[in-house]
Amino acid sequence: MKANLTRRNFIATAGTAALAATTTSALTAEAPAPAASLKILGVACSPRKGMTTAKAVQAALDAAKAVSPRIQVELIDLGGLSIASWSPNIPRDDFDAILPKLRDPQLGGLILGSPSYFRSLSALCKAFIERCMPLREPTMVLANKPVGAVATGGNRNGGQELVIQQILTAMLSYGMVPVGGNSPAMLGGTLWSQQDSVAQDETGLKSAALLGAHVAEIALKLC
Ligand SMILES: Cc1cc2nc3c(=O)[nH]c(=O)nc-3n(C[C@H](O)[C@H](O)[C@H](O)COP(=O)(O)O)c2cc1C
Repeated sequence: MKANLTRRNFIATAGTAALAATTTSALTAEAPAPAASLKILGVACSPRKGMTTAKAVQAALDAAKAVSPRIQVELIDLGGLSIASWSPNIPRDDFDAILPKLRDPQLGGLILGSPSYFRSLSALCKAFIERCMPLREPTMVLANKPVGAVATGGNRNGGQELVIQQILTAMLSYGMVPVGGNSPAMLGGTLWSQQDSVAQDETGLKSAALLGAHVAEIALKLC
């Protein structure tokens, strides 16, 4: 082989190799980096696992996922879990397993769901929000990520909108960006539970879906 390598074909071979290298690096430089996926985390804050609030949050997550292949979703159902409210002696309970999911750099946004309890958010929802305290210092981990809310109630006008406002107001303390639903679900998902089911509440389920889609759209813009 060496004997056959004349000056002329050496230059030609080297030139071809150089061109190939240039072309490869140019292609590499121009190829767009694959877009990172974003996780929308839904948190259902009813003490009753798998009931109407979990169904409502899942409806929102399903719509969020449909927005883009980049969107991943996960439901955390707090029903049956032990989560104490904040106290100076940090409780060791089921929140410990949830905290890393909230610190995940892939987290694109949150959808929090609560039943209306006496026109207010559930104690479990309040406890969850209080226990997110470690996400404020030393850095505001949740800052500039969208948060939306869904609320269920046994009455059509049972305080769902008040619950949503309470959740969104509280999450402002984490620097999150409160997001309502796409029109006409401007505030978020409001669902009416009848006989412990939201399956018949088409309007309510649609409001949850409109919220989920909007949270995903904003996450794609902000994160
Ligand atoms: C303590 C308590 C208070 C409630 N207060 C209200 C209320 O103010 N307005 C309302 O519409 N429903 C109220 N409900 C009904 C729940 O909001 C409703 O059943 C909801 O769908 C429960 O969510 P879950 O199925 O996820 O547990 C209350 C239920 C309980 C247990």
